[in-house]
Amino acid sequence: MNSVLVFTGPKEFCNILVLNLRSYLDVSPDVATDINMAKEFMSEKNYDLIIASSETESSKPIVEIADFLTSSGSLSPLVSLGDDPKEELEYDPTLLYSIDQIDDIKSILKVSADIIGVTPKDLAKAPVSKYFPIPIDHFHSLDESPADVYIKIGRGEKTQFLKRIHKGEGLEEEAVNRYVDGGVKNLFVRSLDRLHFVNTLTQQIIKIFNKEPTNSNEVLKAAEIAQDIVAQNIDVLGITPEIIQMSDKAIEKMTEEAEKHPLLGKLLERLTNNKASFSFKHTQLTTYMCMTILRKIDWGKKEQYRTLSFVAFFHDIVLPNDKMAMIRSEEELKNSGLGEREKEYVMKHAQKSAELIHKYPHMPMGADALIRQHHGVLNGMGFSETFSGNLSPLAVVFIVAEECAHIVLKSEDEKLNKRKILFELEQKFKTSRFQKMLQALEEVL
Ligand SMILES: [Fe+2]
Ligand SMILES: [Fe+2]
Repeated sequence: MNSVLVFTGPKEFCNILVLNLRSYLDVSPDVATDINMAKEFMSEKNYDLIIASSETESSKPIVEIADFLTSSGSLSPLVSLGDDPKEELEYDPTLLYSIDQIDDIKSILKVSADIIGVTPKDLAKAPVSKYFPIPIDHFHSLDESPADVYIKIGRGEKTQFLKRIHKGEGLEEEAVNRYVDGGVKNLFVRSLDRLHFVNTLTQQIIKIFNKEPTNSNEVLKAAEIAQDIVAQNIDVLGITPEIIQMSDKAIEKMTEEAEKHPLLGKLLERLTNNKASFSFKHTQLTTYMCMTILRKIDWGKKEQYRTLSFVAFFHDIVLPNDKMAMIRSEEELKNSGLGEREKEYVMKHAQKSAELIHKYPHMPMGADALIRQHHGVLNGMGFSETFSGNLSPLAVVFIVAEECAHIVLKSEDEKLNKRKILFELEQKFKTSRFQKMLQALEEVL
């Protein structure tokens, strides 16, 4: 593996950078928090790449690092973040790279990948420079912003970011609604503030979850925001304590919500009134169908409820949009109009989601294997329409549940048509093995 040293402040940015290097370039960098530590690291090994700030308030790390390397005669490629230090350095120019925007993670990843000679994974999903979007509805639950918040004006080269909320202030409900009515989808925080912002948002969401008595609408909205935050941040920030706390709570609440409604119609109505997003409905309905089937089959046990709710929450976690999440077969993928790289990504999404979640602490046993199998393929690559005997029985429950949720969602504008839904399910799940599961679904439709 390539050896990489990172020496940048502030700490939160450094964390994000390191997580990105890990997830996109497969390296585990050493991190120095001061120049002496950096020197110690450098005297122990020869790095393939060193990334450092060109200037901090009190020092010039890149200059000190370059001097140290020159005097010890071991030259490593240097990536300098901030003002270009060339003038001040006597260093082999072919080994010196400069990125002037210190939080331009995408460029840092690109340059670093070139230097160490690896092909970065899916850089398209890496955070772009400077400003990070936060969906506008997240601001309903934010009284006190932990960072400055910006609004984006104009397009292309004319894009500008104007400060709308100062750190410590909130956004009035009225103003949020006005933005929503005006078509604003996102507000922005500086990428540097992203981690901090997400953590504060987490605390607010947890507060709503813990409020007594519970208000279903409020809880569902909070669960939706929680799922969205997790989906947008987990691959970059990693499985942080906040992400775990928020996911666990959201899963618990979604399971409770599934158990509250003996008939699907009521739950659907509530989701529609709440203007829930596609991906949230997809998860909440799949959870509901899973519970419905588990209650009916002879071998359904209580702990499997948690397992399948967990799987429902995370199964498509790496898919960035609804269009991709709607695809259910290789045929649909072929006709999806997606580009080649995106198609490839969808092909592998079950495997990638499973891999991402593999290290989740206290994960229900076997949940990652179920996520991998959720399109009927053991290794999580592609889609299968026949169900091999090797699939876990719980995976089969999930597949039937998700298919039912999918049919319901697909025909959402129409009134719930029990006969049509059952007919579609019967076409797909023909053998006697599925009979009880379909019966269970029939009872709630
Ligand atoms: Fe799905
Ligand atoms: Fe999927």
